[in-house]
Amino acid sequence: MADQNNVGKVNSGQGKYRLQIHLMPPAGWMSDPNGLCYFKHHYHVFFQYSQNLETGKPSSWGHYSSPDLLHWQFDGAAICPDMEWDRDGAYSGSAFTADGKMELFYTGNVKEKGEYDYILDGRQANVLYTVSRDGLHFSKKQRLLTNADYPAGYTLHVRDPKVFRKDGGCYMALGGRRTDGRGAAILYESAGRKHWHFCKELTTREPFGYMWECPDLFQLEDVWVLICCPQGLAEEKYRFQNRYQSGYFRCDDFSLRRGDYLCDRESFEELDYGFDFYAPQTFTDPKGRRLLFGWAGIPEEKRYGNGPTIRDGWQHAMTVPRELFWNHGRLCQRPVKELDELRIKRVPYEGNSGMIKAQAFDLLVEFSGIHPREKRGVLLGDDVLFVCENGCAELKFLSDAGCGRTLRSARMRTADPALRSLRVLRDTSLLEIYVNDGELVFTTRWYPKSVQETALSLIGPVSAAEVWEFKGMEVDFGEYGNTITGNRGGAD
Ligand code: FRU
Repeated sequence: MADQNNVGKVNSGQGKYRLQIHLMPPAGWMSDPNGLCYFKHHYHVFFQYSQNLETGKPSSWGHYSSPDLLHWQFDGAAICPDMEWDRDGAYSGSAFTADGKMELFYTGNVKEKGEYDYILDGRQANVLYTVSRDGLHFSKKQRLLTNADYPAGYTLHVRDPKVFRKDGGCYMALGGRRTDGRGAAILYESAGRKHWHFCKELTTREPFGYMWECPDLFQLEDVWVLICCPQGLAEEKYRFQNRYQSGYFRCDDFSLRRGDYLCDRESFEELDYGFDFYAPQTFTDPKGRRLLFGWAGIPEEKRYGNGPTIRDGWQHAMTVPRELFWNHGRLCQRPVKELDELRIKRVPYEGNSGMIKAQAFDLLVEFSGIHPREKRGVLLGDDVLFVCENGCAELKFLSDAGCGRTLRSARMRTADPALRSLRVLRDTSLLEIYVNDGELVFTTRWYPKSVQETALSLIGPVSAAEVWEFKGMEVDFGEYGNTITGNRGGAD
């Protein structure tokens, strides 16, 4: 099996489908980004991590850190499900940094043994807390909230605390499933972050999915945004095509000072229209940017999968870090500027087709003229066709290199719905496609026969095209090799 025994300094790109510019598990399962923060000169990316690479259960928190988003160190597992409050999973959560400390808040999932539905009974959803002074060693866990602390009208599906500071106060958003079949986010408030008081609920007037996972509430340039992952939305022709969705509500008149808030269902926009994207989390960095990592995967999807990497002993990855910004009232995403430093050489490319001999590359295309009805896009190998036409964008697999992935469609957004620019990050077995400067994004896994070279054909009136070969990020697995090493607790 590929890459089972990497110990020491290795480049992340080993084994046929291993990735060059994306974080992935050394072995095993990776899902939700957790505890994203910048602390003591390092970025920290924790993530749902499991030795069970097919189910991801029970989950621990794996840990990567980096001074610059380009050189990464794998730090093993920071939190393991090793006690009565989290024995069935150290579920998702967030980090809060203050006074030289990194505080982690997460859901301790417990399933009682017996005949339960695990919705209304048989489950504990504990909010747990652990703190670190160095970002590596964590204190004994404390339990901050239990089932008894959640408001009336909720099932036992309450989880994924996201803690943030605002106007001198601290708040925690939790995702929840109400007993009346509505998904919602609930907000708690605290002065010292140990004692939390229920403060308000954010939901929609009419149900919008039965459960909202991984809420993230923040202000970007004075506009409040609630990111969440609704489950149970009915599939539409141009929306909600994945098993579960991830997107945001623009909460225009939201205020922390006023009471409950009703999100406008119509304002909900998906953050990514590809096959593989879920549970994104954001944080701010010292450069003042709001950065997002998403899980480049999807839970409980039976229609398509990742057989080729499961056979190699790993499954799933993170998206690259993306910077969020507004453009014409829409939340847009662009890969962080730092990634440009991984471009090692410009690949000669002229005309509309060519062969790119690189495992990971950056393709940037500008189209000329504004003709919304005209077909524009790109064909990658014999496998992946991305086209925009008549105001719609389509990502289509033409072969079985999608392992069951078929078609994803979305409507173009702006008043002028033409494809003006395209950026494709192509990494071995993962594609991120950014349309019109990040106004739409599509993330998908792709398992081409050859990862070393890709035939590229551009479709439409191209005014400029550039291709850059990427070198791999450096990932140091250090002493941990590929094993889950357990909680290095005990300090503090
Ligand atoms: C989202 C999610 C979270 C939960 C975690 C468990 O993918 O279901 O709600 O905390 O995964 O791994």
